[in-house]
Amino acid sequence: MTDTLLDPAAGRAPLRARFITFEGIDGAGKSSQIEAVVALLRARGLAVEQSREPGGTPLGERLRELLLHETMHLETEAMLMFAARREHLATRIEPALAGGRWVVCDRFSDATFAYQVGGRGLARAKFDALERWVHPGLQPDLTLLFDLPPAVAAARVASTGVDPDRFEREQRDFFERVRAAYLERAQAAPQRICVIDAARPPALIRAEIERILCERFFP
Ligand code: TYD
Repeated sequence: MTDTLLDPAAGRAPLRARFITFEGIDGAGKSSQIEAVVALLRARGLAVEQSREPGGTPLGERLRELLLHETMHLETEAMLMFAARREHLATRIEPALAGGRWVVCDRFSDATFAYQVGGRGLARAKFDALERWVHPGLQPDLTLLFDLPPAVAAARVASTGVDPDRFEREQRDFFERVRAAYLERAQAAPQRICVIDAARPPALIRAEIERILCERFFP
């Protein structure tokens, strides 16, 4: 039973806990917007778990270290992404949603589709099989896809001065493919995935996201 929360706006109507994910190429500017969404939901009195992938659990964070820094075969990479996800779902995401806590997650399976299938060339059928195995029947309630040209994103990543990881070191054409795969996925699931023009100033993006959340969840 997930309908345990009261919706402060509606008085007594129960509100099912939702699973919200953020996606986009590296440097798309998700991080500060994730913080804003978590703060907005908490301000409405909702219990919220903030997490990320790969990661989100002690084991997942160890897999993240390997994934971000070790060279590996692309299928190994895809399977480790889904292994970390399985653990994350079993020990955090599913219990949170079942207990009425909203989950806001930086990346989920759309990232595997974009990076491993689109970017690296993993066979689509292998992705589909892994996704069906690891989370049959579960998709985020809402995915905010931060879309912008890879050249703009690369300049943002470079300006942070932080050492780039294995993905951030990829060339422009890799990110062009990742971006295209994300947009293909969004076209296939237009109700779930909202494409956000991430080249705009953060305040405008934030206002658009607040509007989307209000329309979807707090009408
Ligand atoms: P991210 O947390 O966005 O990186 P950062 O901490 O630098 O903001 O994501 C880590 C990287 O992992 C990112 O480059 C995308 C990649 N990734 C995949 O390739 N496949 C996946 O399934 C996921 C979840 C992430």
